[in-house]
Amino acid sequence: MEQKTKKNGFASGIGFILAAAGSAVGLGNLWGFPYKTSANGGAAFVLVYIICVILIGSVAMISEIFIGKRAQANTVTSYKKVKKGMGWLGLVVIAVPTLIVCYYVVLGGWTLRFAANSFQAIPEAGNALSFGAFTSHAVEPVFYTIIFVLLAAIIIMAGVKDGIEKSSKILMPALFLILVGIVIFCLCLGGGVERGLEFYLKPDFAELGFDGVVAAMGQAFFSLSLGMGTMMAYGSYTGKEIKVGKSALMICLFDTLVAFLAGLAMFPAIGALAPEALGAGAQGPGLIYQILPQVFAAMGPVGEVISFAFFAMVVIAALTSVISIMEVSVQFIIQKFKTNRKKTTLIVATVCTLVSIPIAWSVGGAFDGAITIFGFDLLTFLDEIANTVLMPLGAFGACFGVGWFIDKKLTANPMNTLRTLESEDLKLGKFGKIFAIMVKYVTPLLIIFVEISGVVGKISSEGAHYWWVIGFALGIIALLIVTYFTFFHKKDCGTNADEEALSVKNE
Ligand code: TRP
Repeated sequence: MEQKTKKNGFASGIGFILAAAGSAVGLGNLWGFPYKTSANGGAAFVLVYIICVILIGSVAMISEIFIGKRAQANTVTSYKKVKKGMGWLGLVVIAVPTLIVCYYVVLGGWTLRFAANSFQAIPEAGNALSFGAFTSHAVEPVFYTIIFVLLAAIIIMAGVKDGIEKSSKILMPALFLILVGIVIFCLCLGGGVERGLEFYLKPDFAELGFDGVVAAMGQAFFSLSLGMGTMMAYGSYTGKEIKVGKSALMICLFDTLVAFLAGLAMFPAIGALAPEALGAGAQGPGLIYQILPQVFAAMGPVGEVISFAFFAMVVIAALTSVISIMEVSVQFIIQKFKTNRKKTTLIVATVCTLVSIPIAWSVGGAFDGAITIFGFDLLTFLDEIANTVLMPLGAFGACFGVGWFIDKKLTANPMNTLRTLESEDLKLGKFGKIFAIMVKYVTPLLIIFVEISGVVGKISSEGAHYWWVIGFALGIIALLIVTYFTFFHKKDCGTNADEEALSVKNE
């Protein structure tokens, strides 16, 4: 069997869905979503978030998977096949993940340390009290980051089918089981659970504000791994048999469910065991690294097991996401430069580790917090660049490309687009018409609207130094455009078939 197919793609539809869900479910769900919900009006935020997923996320998800599947190639070639002049966007969506992954692995490393440190006979040394000492240490976080990157690299090296697909098929069900177990456990903790639930979910539209709407869209992009080539790269490894619409729907559903369940586990536990933390503390990024360890410590001995299960679950989630982020650049380098997968992965992993070291120092506050850029710590800075500029651009590009350029005649009539999509095997069934209209008008306009208001809002709330973020992001984009047109536009940038041919040759 194995011998017959040298194809380096997903072996089955469910394998693709699990891998894509593995990409989507990550720190964004288990860490970002709960604290953002509690900080932005509880159920009101959940509602807006779901609307963003339906109106924007799902459409962008379908577009990205479709563009990749149609081209069977890396993101640069994929965009070129939508429209030649769009190839530069393929390079942008390679650069963004490469930036993101450098801070993502730092948080992944923290999580690994928290999992490893769950069993502590001496409470003083345990997770609850050692957060600051650990994160600001010059060596420890770097050490855990390296281990985390190595874990991801091993899986990527094994390839799409034998590494990414196989690991996701085991890890994703495991993650879900752990999560459901923890939710049930936490909901049964008795008194205080309701207070936690109320804190998490009480709709408060006054707390939401427009900032919250912008945050919801950014969170949807990040959580669904959109706007950065991940879904395009994974989509390129699927074959004819995959139904894009149905797969996208399942990925969105699963991702949202996991995010929601994560909060459903955390807040009741906090309400029951550390109700005093149900204030601003639980609304910030410290939620899982600072507040939860206190909760686990308050559970007594069983807390050690729960802590381990919880952080192991976060490690799994972060790992399958990091794999997907790195795969985007690994795929491009292999195909464009005809390199070998193992070496390419090692190079990408090494570069990423090197870049992540100053980020680990910066966000952890090592060296007395001396490492900052324009007044931001490096993680926040990169996160802002990606969230406010690069990801919306990538998602917009995918929708715009599908909406306006797939139909070669470039007519405004979405039904022409629909016909072209159908001839291209999109298989959306009765949702085809709605999708054609969404992808052409509604979603791109919504992204532009939320994006512009978001940037204006940020600048007024953060002050003029936020211009550095915008300027820096635009600078990166300009640099990538120049690079693209200088080196890649006229040249062949490779396809998945090239990698397969390479691996056959190297046998
Ligand atoms: N979706 C992941 C999460 O929720 C993060 C992620 C995966 C991602 N691939 C990405 C973020 C690519 C940015 C770019 O944590």
